Order: sequence, then structure tokens, then C-alpha cells
Amino acid sequence: MGKPKKPRKKEHYYRAAKAKGYRARSAYKLKQIAKKHKLLSDVDCVLDLCSSPGGWTQVLRELDSTIEIVAVDLNPMQPIERVTFIQGDIMSPETVDKIRKMTRGSVDLVVSDCAPKVTGNWELDVARQLSLAEAALRIGLDLLRSGGRVLTKVFQGSGFQEFLQSARSEFESVRLLKPDASRKTSAEIYLLATGPLKKSNGNEG
Ligand SMILES: C[S@@+](CC[C@H](N)C(=O)[O-])C[C@H]1O[C@@H](n2cnc3c(N)ncnc32)[C@H](O)[C@@H]1O
Repeated sequence: MGKPKKPRKKEHYYRAAKAKGYRARSAYKLKQIAKKHKLLSDVDCVLDLCSSPGGWTQVLRELDSTIEIVAVDLNPMQPIERVTFIQGDIMSPETVDKIRKMTRGSVDLVVSDCAPKVTGNWELDVARQLSLAEAALRIGLDLLRSGGRVLTKVFQGSGFQEFLQSARSEFESVRLLKPDASRKTSAEIYLLATGPLKKSNGNEG
């Protein structure tokens, strides 16, 4: 028998999430990004897209007990204190209308950890994930107050560079983030876009 192997990062965060009662190990990705980039400073209302099972929502609530949180997912989600949950498809106009109603048309931060049901066909999975990331940016452009931010997961594959270009043309600043909790070998990366340049609904402030 050789030397015992160091626990892999994936297992480390999986165990830590279990021990802390987080519903998903991805909770640590948001925790790390939120801390480093002061994600919740000056934020009163957050929209959490693709929130189920609720790890990110738990982190948002833990980091700030007073912010308003609206969470959305195709799948059901176990309730979290003072979180409004909408079950729906973020690509559908009906769901976006519900979001608009629940947030009164203005949010300070949109977070999106969207991932499609994996088919095993890499090209298809990447294309579907990209559509979800595009939807998150679109919803951000629609609902964000000026100076607001969108954090969205995106897979680095076909179409990624075009997505990045388009985000850069629509926001004042765009950064790419890879939190320690995200495996180095994973194609996922997080895009943080600040300050929407165009407002499709005329919201200000
Ligand atoms: C990686 S999980 C999100 C994990 C979540 N951030 C957490 O910490 O618990 C991806 C989620 O995206 C959701 N999803 C995928 N496509 C969607 C869509 N079109 N509309 C809403 N949710 C969607 C899935 O149902 C799944 O719950």
C-alpha cells in the first residue's frame, strides 16, 4: 500500500458542505466569490437563478439576514427563511414576468449557477449552458439597477468568447473568476459583470 492520498478538493468541499448543512458543495464557490468581491455590499435585493437545491440561497441568507431574496428553479426547492421561490423556466417570458412582479422590477444583484441536465454530449451541454448564462445576463440587463451586478456560471467551450465579448459590450466591467472550490479541471468559470450599460425597461437607481 502506498502513502494515503491527500483528499481531493472535490471531496474536501463535499464533506465540508455536509458537515455545515449546505445543500450543495457549490455553496463554497459563492462563499469564496462573495467574500473576495464584496458581492453583497450595497445590496438589498438578490435574484438567485437556478437555485435548487438551495446551497447558494443558504449562503446568501447566511451572509446577510436582511436582504430580500427571490430564487428561481425548474425544480422544487425546500423553503429557506424569508426567501420567495418561483418554480419555473428562466428562459420563459412567463417566469421572467413573475420575477419582475416579485422584485418590483428592480434588483441589485443577480446570481446564476445554471446548469442544464447533462446529456453526455459535450457540445450540446455547452450550448445549453451558454443559453442559460445568456438568459441570466438578459434578465440582469432587464432588472438591474444602475451599478448592479450579475454573477453567472459559464462553461468555457464553443461560443464562450462571443459570450464574453457581448457581456463586455453590455456592462461597464466584466471579470472572470475561478474560485478555489471550483475544480481546476472543470470547464466552468464565473463571469462577474458590473454596471449594465443599457436598460431595456428604463429602470434607474
Ligand atoms: C448546479 S444546479 C444549481 C445549484 C445551486 N446553485 C445550489 O447551490 O444549490 C443547476 C440548477 O439549474 C437548474 N436549471 C437548469 N435549467 C433551468 C432553467 N431553464 N430554468 C430554471 N432552472 C434551471 C436545474 O434545475 C438545477 O437545479
